[in-house]
Amino acid sequence: MRKVAICTLLSALLSTALVVACGRSDPPPSSAPSPEPASPAAPQAKAPPTPDPPPAQPTQPAQPTQPAQPAQAACGGEGQPSCPLQGWMEAHMLKATEDRNLPALAQALEQSAAMVPDPAWNQGENGWATIANDGATKARANDFAGARASCKRCHTAWQDRYRAEHRTRPVPTP
Ligand code: HEC
Repeated sequence: MRKVAICTLLSALLSTALVVACGRSDPPPSSAPSPEPASPAAPQAKAPPTPDPPPAQPTQPAQPTQPAQPAQAACGGEGQPSCPLQGWMEAHMLKATEDRNLPALAQALEQSAAMVPDPAWNQGENGWATIANDGATKARANDFAGARASCKRCHTAWQDRYRAEHRTRPVPTP
């Protein structure tokens, strides 16, 4: 009878072990039912997305502004054509300076005064047109060094900002 008791005890222990083992194998059954609740949730998730796209389409018109930025970068870089004012500067300001052509330099400086991209840039002592006209006056007075000083003066004051805000702005081609 003791053997039976021991066996019962062992079987009880074994069954406990089995229960433990089964308990560990519980997750699969528990994960199995979860797909079912998930599938009802899936149709529910599908329903909201369909109303979503329509509101998303009205926001797409904002994208056309992004292509404009790559277009801004389409000049002035390596292998790219010069930007409008950059090319004008090279053809007129730089050319006249290299040639030491004072009349041409005076004319270019006068023209550049009118190329101010924003009238607000003319305010103050270092206003765009003031710098350009000062340089033109020096060039007319045969002061080559004085005229040249206006190059650096304007570039220091305005070049970075011009490139940031108005790089692709067309300039009048004389
Ligand atoms: C009133 C303002 C102003 C004056 C004066 C001026 N510049 Fe400029 N210049 C600019 C601006 C703004 C740019 C930037 C244009 C750009 O890169 O798109 C520029 C760009 C240039 C560039 C192109 C530089 C580069 O890295 O590609 C050259 C060359 C140049 N200027 C030469 C001259 C010379 C030479 C003078 C004087 C005789 C002169 N500039 C006077 C405003 C001026």
